Amino acid sequence: MNAPVQSPVDTPEIDVGHFLEHGYVSVPFLSPTEIEELRTTILKIVEHRTQHFPVYHPPYTLEYLHNLHCSISSKLSSTGGAGGVMDIHYDLALDRIRTDPRIFSIVKHIWSQSYGCSAPGFELPPNVFSSYDFTRGYCTIDRICLRCPDSISNYSGRKKRATKCLTPHLDCCPESIHSGLLPPFPPPPPPSSSNLPSAKPCRMWRPVQCFLLLSSNLLPSTGGIELAPGYHKTFFDVDDWTSSRCGDGEQSCFGPFTAVRNRSVTKDIRHIPVSAGSLFFWDEKIPHATALAHLGSEGRVAIYLGFLPHGPCNSLYKEWERGLWERGLIWVGGGQNWINGKEVGGGEDESEEDKELRASGFIREKQRIEKGQEGVQPFDAVGRKLMGIEEWD
Ligand SMILES: [Fe+2]
Repeated sequence: MNAPVQSPVDTPEIDVGHFLEHGYVSVPFLSPTEIEELRTTILKIVEHRTQHFPVYHPPYTLEYLHNLHCSISSKLSSTGGAGGVMDIHYDLALDRIRTDPRIFSIVKHIWSQSYGCSAPGFELPPNVFSSYDFTRGYCTIDRICLRCPDSISNYSGRKKRATKCLTPHLDCCPESIHSGLLPPFPPPPPPSSSNLPSAKPCRMWRPVQCFLLLSSNLLPSTGGIELAPGYHKTFFDVDDWTSSRCGDGEQSCFGPFTAVRNRSVTKDIRHIPVSAGSLFFWDEKIPHATALAHLGSEGRVAIYLGFLPHGPCNSLYKEWERGLWERGLIWVGGGQNWINGKEVGGGEDESEEDKELRASGFIREKQRIEKGQEGVQPFDAVGRKLMGIEEWD
């Protein structure tokens, strides 16, 4: 195996010991100026996609702001506003963050000190361990968070909420981890047209999750992350993650999403303070949520990031995802975005091509705000590998 490509980057200090002990770590990353610039960029992307610029304060009335944010959520959120998750995947500004060599350098450091050396709580079966290389990898294409304060979301006790919390969950399937670490992504539907990306087994293994926070969640009940520290070490001691609510045919998994209702677990979930501009990493075995309430006055803005260690299933997954990225498509078949994609979109002005795509579980994301110069990739050598444009050596 050839030596991995290294970028000469200035990597921030990382308290890896904290990650190893508690299963999560916060890493200050952006300066106040960078936070403001990137936050403004994200809000402008939202405006470009929805014709609404997200605002939170007078002189606008609460009723106006409520309607504004309901409109934004209805146009962008396939989670129905849960977690403030908005379906903005494709933009050059997001690609730049995903391929920032400093971030990947941090990720590799965390991987190497945890899974890469079988630290307690990060052991892999030998047959799995040998197939992953924690010095190389891929970025994934994920979404953003824009969660407005409850004063706006729940204005006047209206039934319709613009945004809300994410209930406790895992973004993996405990059963699949037991049986070989592959989450239960169903394969995408076979292509019915040359316009569709080639169908590949849509499985990935994302051992460490991540977001870049562009607002402050230092206080509880401001819409931020909550999690149960240390569960990476006791993950396999939990007999049934969903037992206290599942039954009567209730579905617990939506693609890789597993709702956690076992009260012996949820009682351990607590607020974790994260400062604006920080990268936040947590192990996939840590059950997590976002705060039930957002009693702050500012919107929560974050970019979800994901990185996959180099290995057979992740290489196939990235090849498939790159096909979507090149065409600006999102796959919503099989509940990947918690919804049935065939129910999304449509309308009288839908083209025949988009109809066919939608029938196969793909929808086309609205045009990117910044496409870059035609034919010119904005990535360096490592970025092209992270995006799956070039093979790792
Ligand atoms: Fe999650």
